[in-house]
Amino acid sequence: MEKTFYVTTPIYYPSDNLHIGHTYTTIAADTLARFKRLTGYHVKFLTGTDEHGQKIELKAKEKGIKPKEYVDGIVKNIKELWEKLDITYDYFIRTTDDKHEEIVQKIFQKLYEQGDIYKSHYEGPYCTPCESFWTENQLVDGKCPDCGREVQIAKEEAYFFKLSKYQDRLIKFFEENPEFLQPGSRRNEMINNFLKPGLDDLCVSRTSFDWGIKVPFDPDHVIYVWFDAVCNYITALGYLTDNDEDYKKYWPANVHIVGKEIVRFHTIIWPAILMALGIELPKKVFGHGWILFENDKMSKSKGNVIYPEPLIELYGIDSLKYFLLREFSFGQDGSFSREKFLRRINSDLANDLGNLVSRTVAMIDKYNGGIMPEPKADGEYDDELKDMATSTGYKVEQFMNDLNFGEAIEEIWKLIRRTNKYIDQTMPWVLAKEEDKKDRLDTVLYNLSDSLRIISILIRPFMENTSDSIWRQLGIDSGQGTSWDDVSKWGILPTGVKVRREKPMFPRLDVNKELKKLDKANEEFIKQREGNKEEKEDYITIDDFDKVDLRVARVVEAKKHPNADRLLVLQLEVGDEKRQVVSGIAKYYKPEELVGKDVILVANLKPVKLRGVESQGMVLAASKGKKLTLATVMDEIKSGTKIT
Ligand code: MSP
Repeated sequence: MEKTFYVTTPIYYPSDNLHIGHTYTTIAADTLARFKRLTGYHVKFLTGTDEHGQKIELKAKEKGIKPKEYVDGIVKNIKELWEKLDITYDYFIRTTDDKHEEIVQKIFQKLYEQGDIYKSHYEGPYCTPCESFWTENQLVDGKCPDCGREVQIAKEEAYFFKLSKYQDRLIKFFEENPEFLQPGSRRNEMINNFLKPGLDDLCVSRTSFDWGIKVPFDPDHVIYVWFDAVCNYITALGYLTDNDEDYKKYWPANVHIVGKEIVRFHTIIWPAILMALGIELPKKVFGHGWILFENDKMSKSKGNVIYPEPLIELYGIDSLKYFLLREFSFGQDGSFSREKFLRRINSDLANDLGNLVSRTVAMIDKYNGGIMPEPKADGEYDDELKDMATSTGYKVEQFMNDLNFGEAIEEIWKLIRRTNKYIDQTMPWVLAKEEDKKDRLDTVLYNLSDSLRIISILIRPFMENTSDSIWRQLGIDSGQGTSWDDVSKWGILPTGVKVRREKPMFPRLDVNKELKKLDKANEEFIKQREGNKEEKEDYITIDDFDKVDLRVARVVEAKKHPNADRLLVLQLEVGDEKRQVVSGIAKYYKPEELVGKDVILVANLKPVKLRGVESQGMVLAASKGKKLTLATVMDEIKSGTKIT
């Protein structure tokens, strides 16, 4: 039977500031996907972007563009970063893909029809100026986390998912499947902190903003972004469509790799949705630790963000991938430091691996005219090397299956160090001096190379460029004897081929010098990125401005909004046309003061409903602190006149 393997990363929030921490999840998933392909699996490796929600809507608004336009630009950058890191995903899902949106609607409808989703009211702290509901936990000092103003308790109609109904089944599932959530400590956290204390039903729709997938049977509501997002793991496979071969082939996922802060969504909410849909649960969720910077969370405001680009520009992707997966224990937090990174390049890559390759190839050049010799005379130490070389693959496989990348690498490095030791023990330079030791010398050189062949296979999922370079240098550039089965075979490296020395794969670094270089590169990278942004953001073209249709409009009627204290509903005369506009100016103007006044209307703004009342445009105002004044024209002019 065909062996399949389905591995996913979380789908990323569109951000043009993906740092080293973000790349960690994806590099780990990529390495696992590569390993599984190497060991004969048909792999589906899914990644993508999580593009809906109020935050995105607001960011796009700040930039004066549509949310879709905003996310399109950023998703392009994310894909570019994955390309730079040579991430071998098989499918990139965007939650704005039509297919995804349609399937999420089908899922929502199905759960509604079977009674797992029901309509009720959401009650909680509400910030009127921001039009946002918050949870008690999200408040900062009891105030709105966005604008810092007082909040009121308000009620909004919303749909709920019956999460509570699945509590007992989830507990049972956790108990019966100890492998489901790794590492084990996260499992206890979920059981003791969330499942046992009891689950509340989950609010899965919002009406306070628009940017999301509409509830199919009630389009004033958009589906909660986390409900929309977790479904990506099956929508990407064509679940509930006619084209569902991938779903049949790959579901349930073998592993969802996620950061520790989103484990709850993946091991409680997502499984409950799957239970409600009556389909199998993923086999494993791995909640990895965070990469911190000197034990602190990386953040732009703290100025301690490490970006991957300067690191890979200077030291290549293999060094970065190696470091991230070797230095940190995958389940735990770890602290990134440039110095540690550079020191590891020196010790593990330049000293251990790089030296082994260059010494071996240089000796074949020197003692055998650059031709891979045939082994002719076994001797002391050979069996020890051979046994270790041919048994490492098995150990690596065990560790990889447990997503223990660090230990897998450590096993490979044991072999690298052992092979280096073999050089010291057999002393080829001494053998070369004695005529009758030529056979033994050939064998030693061959054994070194054959061990390197095995090493090149073992490191391949982590460092493909380095592995390619070893193949080229050993004269096996089409990869003879390098399938996974070949890791446990000895003596299959082709002989008689020409070896080709290349310049050192990992030149030794002067750490202090490199630290300065790196600091500068990071600074320049940030400057360039910010500079690009400023260029983009500071100017609009006249064509951009022409897109905005500004008109003089006369207020003919003004009333208080029936459902919101801060809003007024204005009836405007715009030439021969009438317009209704809802405006957040109730605190600054009494309705009667406005009648007869001329205001400036953005006439081609897409109509929206603001707390249930349609607004067909927006009136302009200047505001600073507590003061607000409506913009108008200096002299009397006919309403409807275009402002240019
Ligand atoms: N959009 C959600 C996931 C939805 S999945 C259905 C999300 N996106 S994210 O962009 O914020 O995070 C993407 C991944 O990057 C997560 O796995 C997160 O844990 C990881 N990391 C972000 N910063 C990190 C570190 N500093 N260290 C390690 N990984 C962290 O969450």
